[in-house]
Amino acid sequence: MNLDKIGIKTDERYECIYTTIDSEGNKNSAAIGLKYFGEDNIGCRIFEGSKTLKNIQETKRYVVNITQDPLIFTKSTIDKLPEEYFTEDENIAILKDAGSYLIVNVVDIQEQKAENTPIDNDQSIFMIKGKIEKVVVRDESVKAFNRALPGIIECLVNFSRYKIVDDEKRSEYMERVIENNRMIRRIGNEQSKEAMKFIKEEYEKN
Ligand SMILES: Cc1cc2nc3c(=O)[nH]c(=O)nc-3n(C[C@H](O)[C@H](O)[C@H](O)COP(=O)(O)O)c2cc1C
Repeated sequence: MNLDKIGIKTDERYECIYTTIDSEGNKNSAAIGLKYFGEDNIGCRIFEGSKTLKNIQETKRYVVNITQDPLIFTKSTIDKLPEEYFTEDENIAILKDAGSYLIVNVVDIQEQKAENTPIDNDQSIFMIKGKIEKVVVRDESVKAFNRALPGIIECLVNFSRYKIVDDEKRSEYMERVIENNRMIRRIGNEQSKEAMKFIKEEYEKN
């Protein structure tokens, strides 16, 4: 399975749009992270209470859509994605405009307590392992989105202003470094981790 051409490598995390269907055929979409373990193995962690989790538990199937469309991410997260964003298919929910998509069958769902996240530890999180049944690439130029580079750019832009802002702003920037460092250690590749380490050291000197 060649996911490299759509920007997916093993052990980094990508932000994707998961589309699912419930037992009555209602379609749903949500932004969820994706980890690729090689060959046809992928995984995600979903907090209890989401519609996506319920649909996946019910149908044992989901679609991972690769997109960088800001409106799709926004509407999927804080609103409901309108019907016209989905293909006409009745038995499966797929985004019309996704650059590519993966159809996935669930192989294992395990409940755990949330750890290493800023989320309340009493909240359960479900680790879902899946096998990719099919990959459909419509547009190779649309790569899966990884949050490391935007985090690094934010820290660098702030760094270029670090010496000319007041103390309150400086501590705000430092908090962003700490948070971006935490995030990149979890989801970034080796270069991003090295870059972030370097940035953090420079902030600490100043
Ligand atoms: C970029 C991004 C990534 C997200 N990743 C996850 C994730 O990996 N697991 C999760 O449980 N929620 C994640 N969320 C939050 C869900 O998208 C959010 O809870 C959503 O409202 C769930 O929708 P649903 O109830 O329709 O499934 C993420 C949100 C964003 C914006």
